[in-house]
Amino acid sequence: MYRTHTCGELRIDDTGKTVILAGWIQRSRDLGGMTFIDLRDRYGITQLVFNMETRPELCIQARKLGREYVVSVTGRVKERDSKNPKLPTGDIEIEAEKLVVLNPSEVPPFTIEEVSDGGDDLRMKYRYLDLRRPPLKRNLELRHRMAQEVRRYLDQQGFIEIETPVLVNSTPEGARDFVVPSRMNPGQFYALPQSPQTLKQLLMVAGYDRYFQIVKCFRDEDLRADRQPEFTQIDCEMSFVDVPDIIATFEGLARHLFFAVKGIRFDDPFPRMTYREAMDKYGSDKPDLRFGMEIIDFTTLSRGKGFQVFDTAEFVGGICAPGCGGYSRKELDALTEWVKRPQVGAKGLIYIKSESEGQLKSSIDKFFTPADLQEWMKTAKAQAGDLLLVMAGPKEKTLKALGELRIEMGNRLGMRDKNTFKPLWVVDFPLLEWDDEEKRYFAMHHPFTSPLEEDIPLLDTNPAQVRAQAYDFVINGVEIGGGSIRIHRAEIQQLMFKSLGFTKEEAEKKFGFLMNAFRYGAPPHGGIAFGFDRWCALFAGLDSIRDIIAFPKNNSGRDVMLDTPSELQPRQLDELHIRVVEKEDSGH
Ligand code: AMO
Repeated sequence: MYRTHTCGELRIDDTGKTVILAGWIQRSRDLGGMTFIDLRDRYGITQLVFNMETRPELCIQARKLGREYVVSVTGRVKERDSKNPKLPTGDIEIEAEKLVVLNPSEVPPFTIEEVSDGGDDLRMKYRYLDLRRPPLKRNLELRHRMAQEVRRYLDQQGFIEIETPVLVNSTPEGARDFVVPSRMNPGQFYALPQSPQTLKQLLMVAGYDRYFQIVKCFRDEDLRADRQPEFTQIDCEMSFVDVPDIIATFEGLARHLFFAVKGIRFDDPFPRMTYREAMDKYGSDKPDLRFGMEIIDFTTLSRGKGFQVFDTAEFVGGICAPGCGGYSRKELDALTEWVKRPQVGAKGLIYIKSESEGQLKSSIDKFFTPADLQEWMKTAKAQAGDLLLVMAGPKEKTLKALGELRIEMGNRLGMRDKNTFKPLWVVDFPLLEWDDEEKRYFAMHHPFTSPLEEDIPLLDTNPAQVRAQAYDFVINGVEIGGGSIRIHRAEIQQLMFKSLGFTKEEAEKKFGFLMNAFRYGAPPHGGIAFGFDRWCALFAGLDSIRDIIAFPKNNSGRDVMLDTPSELQPRQLDELHIRVVEKEDSGH
């Protein structure tokens, strides 16, 4: 027998029992004729004691054990002389009587502790060692708990979990596909699903009116802290529902998870905000409602004072950073540089600061009198000691830049507490988004999203104004999920394809299978998918989804542990009818 108990289990009541524990050597200390070893497994740590006086041979054997050796130890549970209140097992120790080394270990390349001394790359390369550390273990346990609670709730609501294939064709989420060559069909490729979108719609046609799946999705896109090339969705679809039905069902899921996993109850319904309001107030379609600092429209106030930048801008807006009126020239310059970064993309930043004596100072003193500036402060409901940060430019772009700046100031001012959760629904998204490079409309969500009934006539006349029956679920500035009511009538779908610039043939080639299915009695339907990794990371208080995933990819999409992607053998390439072509030298 390897073990009778786990290393997290024994308590003072077990004193006197003879037990067997198995696990890894966390650390070992020799103190005056005794050797103390912390033995670790998934469940915790228990102290072992080897006594040089009573069992010298065993103690000598124990002194040779290195970190991460796997051992099995038999001994008696004893009350400790000096207890460790930080450990659940801290009242007891095991007086070792027998030791079996199950496997020695090389010295690990970094410390396996709560906080490790290993850098990112090293820990990724030895991910199986990193996963032994308590924070990662807690993350994976939380992920497991979340998955269980998702299944429990959806099962209770009558949803059934149905698996869909991974070798499919292109799905409509708009990122690049990962493709898989087919040996049996030379020159042809599968695409991995960016989501099971079309398949879940087919399940609705098939009559499975409440479907869900915790499912892997694959997108070949640039990676960020909240994006992985393969990630997991809680993917859901329902028939015979409208937007309010879907929101009610999945707000129920969110409330269940908040309570079951975090012990948090919300008294009121989650707020619902239109896309327009979210953009106007927060410069983002995923507003962080943990703090205010809403965007103020200064367009009217800014006009006619001879300041060219304001007079010609479509929009002038700002935010009021509380208590930042004392910002130095240097700090303001740094902030200006920050907003000029390509990620934010602003042209510049104008400030009006109220220093401690209430004096106003600004970078636009030349054009605006002190009374004008007072007016700005009043409009912003600014207090003495506050700082107004103002930008001007095309409306949507400026709102977005202000939204980024708002988040940055929220961070600097400590307004984004990880233990506060502010969920909301963002609704009434635009159906289409104009792409200036390709000079055509794209579906903001995907091409199967239904327009609002009353906006359908606009599809022909003013497509940009058409609102979608689409919704996002947002917590703390993170897009956790999104979905829509789908188009289930052929003529609307055709109108949509036309707005997207697809010819009938193109639409037929890409989505003919779905259009075909819709000819056989497609019920009205809609759904949503949640980013499972994002939701877990948020609950775990993590900045990146990487640490909620057992084996993630790095920022270049590599798994450094498996050392993949990697080249294929010429024989494999031959079998697949593939030739690898060297990329042409780009000329420098
Ligand atoms: P969408 O593309 O919005 O919708 O994806 C749903 C949710 O998945 C998460 N997500 C990601 N998480 C990690 N890494 C990524 N690369 C990544 N991409 C997306 C986000 C997002 O909100 N089929 C539709 C859903 C539907 O209409 O039902 C879809 O996939 O949290």
